[in-house]
Amino acid sequence: MSVTIIDHSLIKHKLSIMRNKDTSTYLFKQALDEIAMLMAYEVSKNFPLKLIDIETPVCKTTGYELAEQIVLVPILRAGIGLVDGFRTIMPNAKIGHIGMYRDEETLEPHEYYARFPKGIENSKVIIVDPMLATGGSADMAIEDIKKRGAKDIILVCLVGAPEGVKFLQKKHPDVDITLAALDDHLNENGYIVPGLGDAGDRLFGTD
Ligand code: PRP
Ligand code: URA
Repeated sequence: MSVTIIDHSLIKHKLSIMRNKDTSTYLFKQALDEIAMLMAYEVSKNFPLKLIDIETPVCKTTGYELAEQIVLVPILRAGIGLVDGFRTIMPNAKIGHIGMYRDEETLEPHEYYARFPKGIENSKVIIVDPMLATGGSADMAIEDIKKRGAKDIILVCLVGAPEGVKFLQKKHPDVDITLAALDDHLNENGYIVPGLGDAGDRLFGTD
């Protein structure tokens, strides 16, 4: 299993906008859209291809198309914020949804919704969520998706905590993780430090 932290100046710049507590909901979402596009570009660099026959205006030749169907799975709510950016880069991706919230006291995740496209067992599944804190939500999402037969799963988060990354590395060594930043630690309330606060609340203007 690999953990990749994308080293990209634009991502660092835009993530700093998201971290700033004075950033408006509008600019928060705008920065998230832009980061999602950059992350989609980075994670898809080496997706497997198959050779296809094509005919240019000049001659017959061979080209490429992606070998696997892509299924994007946002963890609701905050994961929804990454969908637009990913779909801009991967317009043929199908979308699954998994609804989950963390109990604020116990930090245990609770799944309240799941719906996936057909064929997930033969697809490349990209789970997206801005925050990887204890890793509980991502773990439950991965477990659910594996139960449905998926074998090729990657996880893409904006900000991760070392605690959550370690937990997932142990539980799901077959799932590669990509982050925009690996932060310092979790505080006593289970928030990532320095983090960006509650991603869902900041994205949707709730509190
Ligand atoms: C946030 C975030 C992750 C989860 C991470 O969601 O979007 O899904 O917390 O925490 P964990 O790694 O400790 O499980 P939250 O439960 O706040 O729900 P929301 O997206 O509806 O705001
Ligand atoms: N969920 C969030 O939205 N933010 C955190 O810092 C941790 C979990």
